[in-house]
Amino acid sequence: MNVVFFKLHLLIVSAKTMHYQQLLAALTLAGAAQASLYSKSSSVLQVDASNYNKLITKSNHTSIVEFYAPWCGHCKNLKPAYEKAAKSLEGLAKVAAVNCDAAENKQFCGTMGVQGFPTLKIVKPSKKGKHPIVEDYNGPRTASGIVQAVTDKINNHVKRITDADVETFLSNDKEAPKAILFTEKSTTSAVLRSIAIDFLGVMTVGQVRNKEAKTVEMFGIKSFPTLVLLPGGEQEAIVFEGEMKRGPMVEFLSQAAEPNPDPASPSSGKKDKPKEKPKEKPKEKAKPKAEEPVEDIIVEEPAEPESEAEAPPPPPPPKRDIPPITTLLTSDEITNACLQPKSGTCVLALVPEEKSEAADALLDNLADLVHRNVKADRKLFPFYAIPSLNPTHTQLSKSLELSGSVELVAINAKRSWWRHYQGDFSELSIMEWVDAIRLSEGAKSKLPEGIIAGESSTSSEEATETETKTETAEAESESPKPEDGHDEL
Ligand SMILES: *[C@@H]1O[C@H](CO)[C@@H](O)[C@H](O)[C@H]1NC(C)=O
Repeated sequence: MNVVFFKLHLLIVSAKTMHYQQLLAALTLAGAAQASLYSKSSSVLQVDASNYNKLITKSNHTSIVEFYAPWCGHCKNLKPAYEKAAKSLEGLAKVAAVNCDAAENKQFCGTMGVQGFPTLKIVKPSKKGKHPIVEDYNGPRTASGIVQAVTDKINNHVKRITDADVETFLSNDKEAPKAILFTEKSTTSAVLRSIAIDFLGVMTVGQVRNKEAKTVEMFGIKSFPTLVLLPGGEQEAIVFEGEMKRGPMVEFLSQAAEPNPDPASPSSGKKDKPKEKPKEKPKEKAKPKAEEPVEDIIVEEPAEPESEAEAPPPPPPPKRDIPPITTLLTSDEITNACLQPKSGTCVLALVPEEKSEAADALLDNLADLVHRNVKADRKLFPFYAIPSLNPTHTQLSKSLELSGSVELVAINAKRSWWRHYQGDFSELSIMEWVDAIRLSEGAKSKLPEGIIAGESSTSSEEATETETKTETAEAESESPKPEDGHDEL
């Protein structure tokens, strides 16, 4: 790592016109833009700006879409749970991801209102065929949390049939095929709901409860659940004898009608695929009360007549999830990044090891600030968190005579100045300070000796108060439109 960095450093320093921190940042960003977080074989459906409408907006199936950036730590953390959720929801709903870092998707993610990564949205088709209902998912980032939230939003086109209306149901559109599930449950499972969506417009799917004695008797049903296919016209009813699972059920019903061309996942309608990871348990143990909506035919739901609760549950406070700023754990890391004789401006947040509200607030605000600049494609000097376990933390505190448990400083090794942030840790106040650095306004202090790597004790006498334009020019040199550089800060 150090060797790599060293080479990179040489390369960059030799490119005289470039500010090396900026180039480093540019390289990092450029490199990340290529890699998608999910592999081709992933169960997560990869969608982009060009096919989002077709695959998500116009689908009859409910989808969850993750808007992510490959470099984002929370996105990487979410990946295993998201892939697991995708496996669980196979055939029931679409689990998709959009790489917002890819050039072709950047603008699209903006128009989707994506402000941080990952952003999860559940897209539920309108039953009336209009625009889908799109809601942010802010629930737990676990497979079970996601599966539960998505299955809750799978539309219900399953007709509930009672003894009172069974005749009507059967005589309606007599030539068309119908499917009936006889069940002991009062609710409609995600599996059956997804099947009804697969056959929307080509087959009516109904459900009869065991207590509807007349209907149960009429079909001679002895056990529950039982699936019956009425192929239409005068044809005899066929009882499904296979395993009560989505794949075999869809296959069974397909003898009477082709399902719609847009399944929730490519494998739906097929037999269960062999497990890719034999060790992985197919189901996730959720909270004790939670049902396993996927494997079971029935999802436990409170409702009697399906009320199609369009109203969302009370939303939890929106959580902005933005990649944190880089933490430098060792003296080498901070020296390489900021304290070389040629290092440009770095902003360092010195934070304690133990939990601290002030530190959390500061780091959140810095992450936010950096994120906004990245989003706006605007170059800014790097920001690092320096926890107290980094030996340089102590050294800096001592040399710079910092007394707070949380401190924010800017250091420019090349020009041998530093700045001490003394405001509160509110975002606005930090933004103003950062802005002042960019504009090279405000007071700087001369950097004490012993901080810069390998510096001789007689170095850098000139330095501080006088330089102004050069730094501004540096900070902005990569930016094609410097005048738009400040509005958001
Ligand atoms: C959605 O459902 C309609 C019937 O309501 C059907 O005609 C159409 O083909 C389905 N769309 C897709 C993409 O499967």
